[in-house]
Amino acid sequence: MMKTTWRGIIAEYAPFFGSPDPEEAVTLQEGGTPLIPLETLVREIPVPVRLWAKFEGANPTGSFKDRGMTLAVSRAVKKGARALICASTGNTSASAAAYGARAGLRVFVVIPDGKISRGKLAQAIVHHATVIQVEGLFDHALRIVREVAETHPVALVNSVNPDRLEGQRSVAFEIVDQLGSAPDYHFLPVGNAGNITASWAGYKAYRQAGRLSELPKMTGVQAEGAAPIVLGHVVEKPETLASAIRIGNPASWQGALNAAAESGGSILSVSDSEILEAYHLLASKEGVFCEPASAASLAGVLKRARAGAFSGGERIVCTLTGHGLKDPDTVFRSSPPEIRVPARKEEVLAVLGFS
Ligand code: F0G
Repeated sequence: MMKTTWRGIIAEYAPFFGSPDPEEAVTLQEGGTPLIPLETLVREIPVPVRLWAKFEGANPTGSFKDRGMTLAVSRAVKKGARALICASTGNTSASAAAYGARAGLRVFVVIPDGKISRGKLAQAIVHHATVIQVEGLFDHALRIVREVAETHPVALVNSVNPDRLEGQRSVAFEIVDQLGSAPDYHFLPVGNAGNITASWAGYKAYRQAGRLSELPKMTGVQAEGAAPIVLGHVVEKPETLASAIRIGNPASWQGALNAAAESGGSILSVSDSEILEAYHLLASKEGVFCEPASAASLAGVLKRARAGAFSGGERIVCTLTGHGLKDPDTVFRSSPPEIRVPARKEEVLAVLGFS
């Protein structure tokens, strides 16, 4: 007998998506990602709380974007689309390229020149998307693709497309199913602010369906150099090593504010060195390799914890939005140099400290 496997979010949560029929979905069996207890890192927090990582790097293209892309591409195909377009800091383009390839569509991705990580660029290329690098920021690229999609026959698959956000709600469904209830706090990185908006909508939809009673406090984390929501104004020149969230004027700004306000949560910012600390802690103490932007969520938890925000007993989930392999350059830039020795046993033993 065939073992039952995870079928992707449209089939697994069909009652929450009016269309398409699961049989018509363009899917790579996205979702069903692990909720990993962080039992070592939790000791960094001075009071006894419980801490999990929702590891979205385990999605088919290595980020949470696949949850929204399966729905957006499935519906675009139903409507007869022949081509997709998006602006991206890398993950949306990787996901659009993969789902577009699967559906037999042309895919155009517009990205900030030299500003996306190598792994993500490789993904867009290998899936045969047409990659257009613009000399500007993500914010410029998004403006261009919005205008193009308004007047030309290409389906826009950025998170300004409501299908994307509808699909991304599924992360909240899964967390509740995995924990048996919502956590007290849900921390996640914020760039264009679609994911915090969608996750919050997911919890609310699950509550409305009677699957949960208490809602979590949604806590969004921006990088200090790209923190328009925290600052309350557009950032003209966003700068952070977390390239995925290097965004100065988020499309779902209001959605993020609403999620934080309605849930009793907040939006905070963390520095690049706090992001790197969390990134290396996750990899070296928990065996979890996420990309720098993703580690902003844990950096936010640690920052809040050190400021005494938790009293003990809280259950905290952080979304780790993308896989670390997308951005190997950050590893080399932020780690000690590799060890090289002549090919002799004595040399290796000396490194081991056995000489
Ligand atoms: N983490 C990662 C790894 C991302 O790629 C993004 C966004 C975010 C967090 C923030 O999510 O935009 O919904 O607030 N990446 C987009 C992209 C902008 O083009 O791939 P958000």
